[in-house]
Amino acid sequence: MAPQLDGYFKQVDTLSDHFIERLRKAVAIPSISADEERRPDVVRMGQFLADELTALGAEVEQRPLGKQPGKEHLELPPVVVARYGNDKKKRTILVYGHYDVQPAGKEDGWATEPFELTVDSKGRMYGRGSTDDKGPVLGWLNAIEAHQKAGVDFPVNLLMCFEGMEEYGSEGLDDFINAEAKKYFVDADAVCISDNYWLGTEKPCLTYGLRGCSYYSVEISGPGQDLHSGVFGGTAQEPMTDLMRVLASLVDTDGKIQIPGLAELVAPLTDDEKSLYGDIAFTMDNLYESLGSQTSIYPDKEKTLMARWRYPSLSVHGVEGAFSQPGAKTVIPAKVIGKFSIRTVPNMEPEDVDKLVYKYVGEQFKKLNSKNKMTCTLQHSGKWWVASPKHWNFTAAAKATERVWGVKPDLTREGGSIPVTLTFEQATGKNVLLLPMGSSTDAAHSINEKLDKKNYIEGIKLLGAYLHYVAEEPMTN
Ligand code: BES
Ligand code: MN
Ligand code: MN
Repeated sequence: MAPQLDGYFKQVDTLSDHFIERLRKAVAIPSISADEERRPDVVRMGQFLADELTALGAEVEQRPLGKQPGKEHLELPPVVVARYGNDKKKRTILVYGHYDVQPAGKEDGWATEPFELTVDSKGRMYGRGSTDDKGPVLGWLNAIEAHQKAGVDFPVNLLMCFEGMEEYGSEGLDDFINAEAKKYFVDADAVCISDNYWLGTEKPCLTYGLRGCSYYSVEISGPGQDLHSGVFGGTAQEPMTDLMRVLASLVDTDGKIQIPGLAELVAPLTDDEKSLYGDIAFTMDNLYESLGSQTSIYPDKEKTLMARWRYPSLSVHGVEGAFSQPGAKTVIPAKVIGKFSIRTVPNMEPEDVDKLVYKYVGEQFKKLNSKNKMTCTLQHSGKWWVASPKHWNFTAAAKATERVWGVKPDLTREGGSIPVTLTFEQATGKNVLLLPMGSSTDAAHSINEKLDKKNYIEGIKLLGAYLHYVAEEPMTN
């Protein structure tokens, strides 16, 4: 029997302004995990969540994760874990999200203040973290509140795990999940993560795969301090020149990775898999819209989706120590650190990737015959994840999606990474589902990040509806 959801849905609509205010409060806390100076704000954001959850009647704990590796003066922000309901007759669903955000500043080109939620006439709610991942995290809290106010029995026991270091590689969380799998998380029957996005703007999806991410830095140094290029240009070998040449050797204009041996680690494409891409609701116009340009590598949808989901990519992100202000400073930087990462896919083992990277970068630097010093190191790595969508967890989510959005969701993979997905799967032995709230135009990590009001409010309905369907879906596999 389809669950009775009308009372719950109506209550979500009634409370929609209140839920937007809750998001406004969360966005106002600049919980940037990458900024040391912002660490107190990350902690404040965890406290905000803990307070809201306590007020809703959940049992909440803030668990310490110890010091940040490599920055021993810095305490990691706590994991906020909570339990809502403890009825042995009900199923238990474990949900994960993150309360930290990417850096943002008005000077990056935002049209509005990044930490002030700004709603425009089309219902677009702009603010850092709106879609990644504060909106979805609050979605779970809002679902609890709407059940209470509608007087609808909560269908499951909900276990929650919200972390504050996701955007920095989820420092410390793997150990925590592994340690708690048979303790705090022991009752979990299935796991749900709302931390990705629809492929376009119209059709919802359920996601069963993610790429991994191995993040490297290449440090090149020589002179004892920054130098005047008029005095020393032409007489000293320059670290930046070496770095540019090394970075340029990694990948070509069409995204082809130049590291020998890497392509051989990738699982071959089967005919079965090939046939999946055509049916996915995704167009090149979707891509152009989210790119904000037509500078795509491939002209067609299938190749684009494959490049995003099932082939590796290498991106060069930036250079620490480089002159980057406006103007024309005539400096020779003494030490520069280039940053790049590789999105990994089945069947690439992170250790094999590391070996190939170190070997290639070493060879490229050696070829330069430079007297400068180069070191290449791994900053963090998380493995790819591909699960079976043929599981009652996915079936329940598909029914909930159809109920809320009126269409069957596409089954998709993603190019981004949520490294703890695999950790949850392996540590609990349970199925993990990715259930997105936002859409392809939300611009996570970019300027003008937003979440559409419609996706937020219907998304809250979806998360609640999912819990009802997952409570009664036959556990066939
Ligand atoms: N929400 C994203 C993950 C994501 C991005 C899923 C795009 C699907 C599509 C998450 O917050 C994130 O940004 N993850 C990082 C992980 C990295 C630091 C290891 C990423 O993908 O860059
Ligand atoms: Mn995220
Ligand atoms: Mn993110």
